[in-house]
Amino acid sequence: MGEQKFTRKIACIGAGYVGGPTMTVIANFCPDYQVTVLDISQEKIDRWNSDDLPIYEPGLKERVLKARGQNLFFSTDIDRGIQEADIIFVTVNTPTKNFGEGAGKAVDLQYIEQTARRIKENSKSDKIVVEKSTIPVRAAETLNNILHSGNNSIRFEILSNPEFMAEGTGIHDMENPDRVLIGSMNTPSGQEARDELIKIYERWVPREKLITTNLWSSELSKLVSNAFLAQRISSINSISGLCEVTDADVDEVALAVGKDTRIGPKFLRAGLGFGGSCFRKDILNLIYLCEHFGLQPIGDFWQQVIAINDFQMQRFVQRILKAMFNTVVGKKIALFGFAFKPDTGDTRDAPAIHVSKMLLKEKARLCITDPHALSNAQKDLEEEEGDITFETDPYKAAEGAHAIALMTEWSQYQTLDYRRIFDSMEKPAFLFDGRNHLDHQALFDLGFNVYAIGKPDRTQFDQGSQ
Ligand code: NAD
Ligand code: UGA
Repeated sequence: MGEQKFTRKIACIGAGYVGGPTMTVIANFCPDYQVTVLDISQEKIDRWNSDDLPIYEPGLKERVLKARGQNLFFSTDIDRGIQEADIIFVTVNTPTKNFGEGAGKAVDLQYIEQTARRIKENSKSDKIVVEKSTIPVRAAETLNNILHSGNNSIRFEILSNPEFMAEGTGIHDMENPDRVLIGSMNTPSGQEARDELIKIYERWVPREKLITTNLWSSELSKLVSNAFLAQRISSINSISGLCEVTDADVDEVALAVGKDTRIGPKFLRAGLGFGGSCFRKDILNLIYLCEHFGLQPIGDFWQQVIAINDFQMQRFVQRILKAMFNTVVGKKIALFGFAFKPDTGDTRDAPAIHVSKMLLKEKARLCITDPHALSNAQKDLEEEEGDITFETDPYKAAEGAHAIALMTEWSQYQTLDYRRIFDSMEKPAFLFDGRNHLDHQALFDLGFNVYAIGKPDRTQFDQGSQ
């Protein structure tokens, strides 16, 4: 770690999608702070220290290269990192618990607890501990109890500073956030710690975007933000089902509805449903909290957001089956995209995983292509039985296919030569656009039978009757 004199030392525990990029941005804007990102995974840390970073995020690599070895360090020496730090960010994963009490809903807090214990064991001076991982409301209380247990004279001040960045636009979101939220205890030492964090963010975030609240409001606001975003997606997706049977067009409906400034146009893109590591997990967490506090109807309300998301993927597969004469046995289906959204290699809870599994159950042959997510796709499907191939070249993926199903709206899929693709496919050629990303009229004119989310079918079969 650096020999230079730094005004402050930051450690971050958890070198994942959040820890790596957030600390890189802080290191870039605060050259006088030493920032050390720590992880238990040697492989991950080795990759952060190499040219082959463990995550793909536009703009990340050049920013890492600018600061790495200067004031940004990646290390597995967690104990030393803790000892040296004045401020410790916690960005470990908080997945849904898959065992015991609350399985399938509650958050698995074991990594948070392990981290808290390690901080306590290795601290020889007072520290500010910043929760950046998404955790249940009042988790700071648990953290506080662990950190201050026993007869330790060291004081820890806990802050909540949830992360709102979205993958694929992570660097942009962190450099230009809508807001930065900091929750603290309403005590003089709590406010002093909060001001330390404000000093970091105000290097690049306008003061009016720095929101300060109490700890519990901050923790809860993160869950609520994700729940509201996911709710909008399920709302428009629920309407897409109705559009498909009424000849309304969901994009036109979304445009008309979103023009109302009280509603707004964002997050109204109908599609296959939301994926990613957080929406499902955080809503499940919210549901669990509601049930825990005896608020079952509120939990039921949020459960419906997930139910509609699952239904959306089922409906997509049912539409494929119905269109392809009620059977896909032995038919080659090319999946265009596998990442849960474009500009990331992340496939956690990607709709493509669920759709692939359903299609494999129907005995389709799958050929999956994606510019950045093929290795993750391979891992996600390694336990599945059936005929699956992985192909980097979308033209080859589509060769001899009966259908293309677009799963992720990678921009490069808009500029492919669909005449060439059509010519290489089995006929009739089907195209199912799960993200309403392609030019449906042009594809139809080429001879495809086109099915898009929340839009009437465009088939060659009934042209005479249209
Ligand atoms: P991740 O799985 O990519 O990274 C977590 C890292 O923590 C892993 O590298 C893991 O090895 C490490 N880790 C686990 N236990 C550890 C321990 N005891 N000591 C040291 N390292 C340990 O997860 P992520 O996507 O970065 O998410 C982290 C948190 O941030 C979650 O709570 C998530 O809900 C939240 N969040 C994620 C995003 C996102 O876009 N991914 C956005 C906002 C908030
Ligand atoms: C989301 C939130 O947007 C972030 O603010 C939050 O910090 C993060 O979760 C988190 O807590 O992890 P992310 O999951 O990275 O970010 O990506 P989004 O852009 O929100 O997309 C999530 C999913 O919703 C994707 O599968 C996307 O395709 C889908 N989506 C999004 C739609 O189907 N329609 C839309 O209009 C928008």
